[in-house]
Amino acid sequence: MDTTGTLFFPPGGSTYAGDVDSLFYFIYYASAIMFALVIGATIFFIIRYRRRQQTGKTYGKDHNFALEVTWTVIPTILILIVFVWGFRSYMRMNVVPRDAMEVKVTGQKWFWSFAYGSGASSVNELVVPVGQPVKLLMSSRDVIHSFFIPNFRMKMDVLPNRYTITWFEATRTGEFDLFCTEYCGQGHSEMIGRVKVLGEREFSEWLDAGSGPGQGESLVDYGRRLYTSRACNTCHSIDGSANVGPTFKGIFGRQEAMVAGGFITVDENYIRESILQPQAKVVAGYQPVMPTYQGILKDRDIDALIAFMKSLSNE
Ligand code: CUA
Repeated sequence: MDTTGTLFFPPGGSTYAGDVDSLFYFIYYASAIMFALVIGATIFFIIRYRRRQQTGKTYGKDHNFALEVTWTVIPTILILIVFVWGFRSYMRMNVVPRDAMEVKVTGQKWFWSFAYGSGASSVNELVVPVGQPVKLLMSSRDVIHSFFIPNFRMKMDVLPNRYTITWFEATRTGEFDLFCTEYCGQGHSEMIGRVKVLGEREFSEWLDAGSGPGQGESLVDYGRRLYTSRACNTCHSIDGSANVGPTFKGIFGRQEAMVAGGFITVDENYIRESILQPQAKVVAGYQPVMPTYQGILKDRDIDALIAFMKSLSNE
């Protein structure tokens, strides 16, 4: 299996990656050979038949049937190969296998969220089992995004107001890049995620753990896990350092100046409101850029995050 990558492609990681690459290289080398032949012949004829003074030579015959058939038939065959090959690959990439596991993908400014059949969900990290077809049912909450996993040779636009569907089957475990490839605003370049391909057992364990707090896990520990898995950490630090949003360090009980004027003491209700309606009361000095987590975080998740923030204020 191709795990090293080439000049043109990162290492493949899906069942159809090899097919995409082969077709690309076929077109690439066919074009390179044709290019060399055409340019070579042009240069040869330019030199061979250049205008000479007083040679007295004339070239009479200007029609060659065999030659004309050759340069018509060979390109036609090449194009037919590319068409049939391309069409079959296209169908293979677009017809979802019947036993595929479905994941709902939501794009929004500027992150990806994933909902799994079992009730588990994740943000910016698509977790899938190896060797099993995965169907992606995708939509956007705001503008057009595009879902691209280079290693899988898989890319599909994600649109508001309609679903797009695609699928893939990962052939090996590991972590792969996930990019948004449609310019979707200020945070487009940061709309980056990961695809984590797990073994079948690890995946079902992850599904169980992802559906809520793990066994024997405290609310604080669960909140700490959500802090990373729900991408709070992309904007809120926990070490006091400045970022897109206020740091979580010492946030609970802190007095914050509001953009709209006045002060507020950060308590449970303020945190809950800020998670569900981030634009309601924005802290002075920050932009109102946080997306709502309505529908992504359940009540218990919010409880856990509040507990986690409290723990950061006691240290
Ligand atoms: Cu989303 Cu670019």
